[in-house]
Amino acid sequence: MFSYIDRLECTQCGQAYPHDRLSKTSECCNKVLFARYDLDRMRREVDRTVWQDRVSSMWRFTELMPVGDESSILTLGEGGTPLLETRQLAANLGLRHLYVKEEGLNPTGTFKARGISAAVSKAFELGVTGFTMPSAGNAAGAAAAYGARANLPVKVFMPQDAPSANKKESVMSGSELNLVDGLISDAGRIAVAVAEEQDLFDLSTLKEPYRAEGKKTMGLEIAMQLGWKMPDAIVYPTGGGTGIIGMYKGFQELLELGWIEGNPPKFIAVQASGCQPIVKAFNEGKDTAEPWANAATIADGLRVPGPFADYLILQAIRETGGTALAVEDNEMVDAMYELAATEGIIACPEGAATLVGLKRLLQQGFLQPDETIVLLNTGSGYKYLDLIKDTAEG
Ligand SMILES: Cc1ncc(COP(=O)(O)O)c(C=O)c1O
Ligand SMILES: [Zn+2]
Repeated sequence: MFSYIDRLECTQCGQAYPHDRLSKTSECCNKVLFARYDLDRMRREVDRTVWQDRVSSMWRFTELMPVGDESSILTLGEGGTPLLETRQLAANLGLRHLYVKEEGLNPTGTFKARGISAAVSKAFELGVTGFTMPSAGNAAGAAAAYGARANLPVKVFMPQDAPSANKKESVMSGSELNLVDGLISDAGRIAVAVAEEQDLFDLSTLKEPYRAEGKKTMGLEIAMQLGWKMPDAIVYPTGGGTGIIGMYKGFQELLELGWIEGNPPKFIAVQASGCQPIVKAFNEGKDTAEPWANAATIADGLRVPGPFADYLILQAIRETGGTALAVEDNEMVDAMYELAATEGIIACPEGAATLVGLKRLLQQGFLQPDETIVLLNTGSGYKYLDLIKDTAEG
């Protein structure tokens, strides 16, 4: 079978919904809907080796993806990114097994391509006529590209001060660029209103079920790349949280299939000191996060003051024995230099933030030298070269 999807499920109360119509949040609780698969049947019919022989994109995982047939897939070759072993960095930090999942190699230069490819493909299959996309920047660029691929109109909404690469890529791919005087939360409110008024489908983070399915493939790939094992910890730059939530879901599905064994990795959420709602909620032992006032950081992807799926991010961290911590903007830029100088990885500031977080957790003894640790570099530093000093300036 191409896909084993069989229903959607409310993440709050478990109520089931059909997956063959356009869906947003759950009607029962207005919470995140998860795609659920017939894993019992899949266990009987499929062997994990089928994935290994397929084309190296995230669509190799079709059985655990929501799209019903191949002709609906809109792909630019997203996923299949390398898990780079970083020997020099590991040696410098006294670690044995340190990896960087290099998501900067995706189409449009970030991991956002995975979620958007999944969501746009599924919506395309269900007959959508166009999209709205509120975004810190990178998700808008990806939505514009996949919208072009689908030949459907896209209206993107991003903060006025979003990176210029994101504005330009959105316009180049033919989407309508709307700059908002405010943050992503303000952009979100406008996008939803425009979507309702103009019968467009809104792609806001976790307010539709399928972006998380694309992001979950990072977890499936990591397990496969480690020889069907999970790492001990994944350090993740957390904004809206789709990556953490998606990867955790992916590991749980693999465990339920019996394709991997053991405990899921400790999920470690790194945020910016100028916008750390999840860190605060985690430290206070809360199940949900209060919106962060006056959110400010150079890491645009981390400037998400009130993540809609706060409860799922906090669950993933707590259930896996992980933690959450905040780092400074200047530390992220220093870490961009360090990743490039030690390993040749040109990381985005969000990705570099994970290295800062890792160092702190090693110092504190939360992470141990013999653990297998994966840092998520969520995007390419080539979109952020304005954060790097001009060479002429020394
Ligand atoms: C480069 C980058 N890293 C991390 C994030 C945060 O991702 P998530 O929503 O999965 O927490 C974003 C979101 O905009 C981003 O663009
Ligand atoms: Zn519910």
